[in-house]
Amino acid sequence: MFEKLPIALRTDYLRPDVTDEMISARREQIELADHLLRSRKCRGAAFTGWLHPDGILNQEELVRIVETADRLRQESDVLLLIGIGGSYLGARAVIEALADEPERVAYAGTNISAAYHARLRAKLEGKRVAINVVSKSGTTIEPAIALRLMKDLASYNAERLIVVTADAKKGALRKLADEEGYESFVVPSDIGGRYSVLSAVGLLPIAYAGIDINKLREGAARCAELCRSTDPLSNPAYYYAVARNLLLEQGLVIELLAVFEPHLHYLAEWWKQLFGESHGKERTGVFPSSALYTTDLHSLGQYVQEGRRDLFETFIEIRDGGPALVVPHQEDDADQLNFIADKPNETERTLNYVNRVAYEATALAHRHGGVPNMTVVVEKLDAYALGALLYFFEIACAVGGIMLGVNPFDQPGVEAYKRNMSEILGRPGYTQRPLESGKARYVTF
Ligand code: PA5
Repeated sequence: MFEKLPIALRTDYLRPDVTDEMISARREQIELADHLLRSRKCRGAAFTGWLHPDGILNQEELVRIVETADRLRQESDVLLLIGIGGSYLGARAVIEALADEPERVAYAGTNISAAYHARLRAKLEGKRVAINVVSKSGTTIEPAIALRLMKDLASYNAERLIVVTADAKKGALRKLADEEGYESFVVPSDIGGRYSVLSAVGLLPIAYAGIDINKLREGAARCAELCRSTDPLSNPAYYYAVARNLLLEQGLVIELLAVFEPHLHYLAEWWKQLFGESHGKERTGVFPSSALYTTDLHSLGQYVQEGRRDLFETFIEIRDGGPALVVPHQEDDADQLNFIADKPNETERTLNYVNRVAYEATALAHRHGGVPNMTVVVEKLDAYALGALLYFFEIACAVGGIMLGVNPFDQPGVEAYKRNMSEILGRPGYTQRPLESGKARYVTF
């Protein structure tokens, strides 16, 4: 199953809602979308620089990323990554999934909470802090505030410890880097934030966390090569893209990405941004949501099994789930688990096996409950497989969005709240207006 790539798509629980025949019937649509993407004739074509992962960075830039990450690792205890949305989610997804010490990277610029920043400062107290601030526009309010609040933590050696990732020429951050002489990297002009994980945006913090970025890139490049097939039956990424569009056409408007590994939580967050911002426009798109199983089987599980039937699920199953912990034998067997602990086959005593059974049992139960589901199966979670998985979702998202008729590379809707904030806060160039809460209505006790 994994001869060419350590990723496959399980589809049997999509039936009868989606069948191979229904997917194959969309072959022409796939070919057209693929052609528009690759010939750069689709909407938003100026932002397709991620399409060839091995062409995003040249050798010199790659070497500099690795050298800078190594230097920062030696000179600091913690890297504070300041950025929001596509400027941090990809890095965090990979770091949380793979790093031996994910706590060596802290995050700011993802919210405007005073409590969060106060706690973060307390946590970083006494530590040697390096900062990587990432913003393509350089004007996003959350990371800009966080940089003001946090930059003193690295100020004793700012020139060595503050690294900027910004647009090559424009923006406040580029200006800051130039004026202060900070080491800097470029957010490619032809790649939007949510597709930027394999550029310097993601790779510098990922390399700082000790993860092999070459393997990550290799996995993505191999996936890109295999995704050249427009036959959805031999290209799981295109199968996935078409399946979710078909389910949407049938009124299943919510997709729940369910993972059985807690350290994949941020992969799901990255995936939500990718599909949410890329497809959620012009009154269409599947609403992307996520769950962490088995935890959420004890909260959301009831709804998924028996609530409104307007959702489908995508599981991520990791075949080799890491350390071979076994369920221990216990003399009194008060919890009656010795039937697992005493199994003659050692594999079947492991947590990995029990977790896999939990996935199988859930997929079957939800299918019986009327929730079509598919599974992205990953042989083993390492940098190579994760690189491939990131690309798998990126290309599925791009092609799926083109088939939906939207521009999968813009995010005009994100501006609405920013414009309101600028007006209420009185940003120069905006007509100032008061907070709406003067007119708000409340129900009170
Ligand atoms: O995907 C995107 O383009 C967005 O999520 C941006 O990455 C996010 O809004 C942050 O923007 P910037 O990098 O300009 O600060």
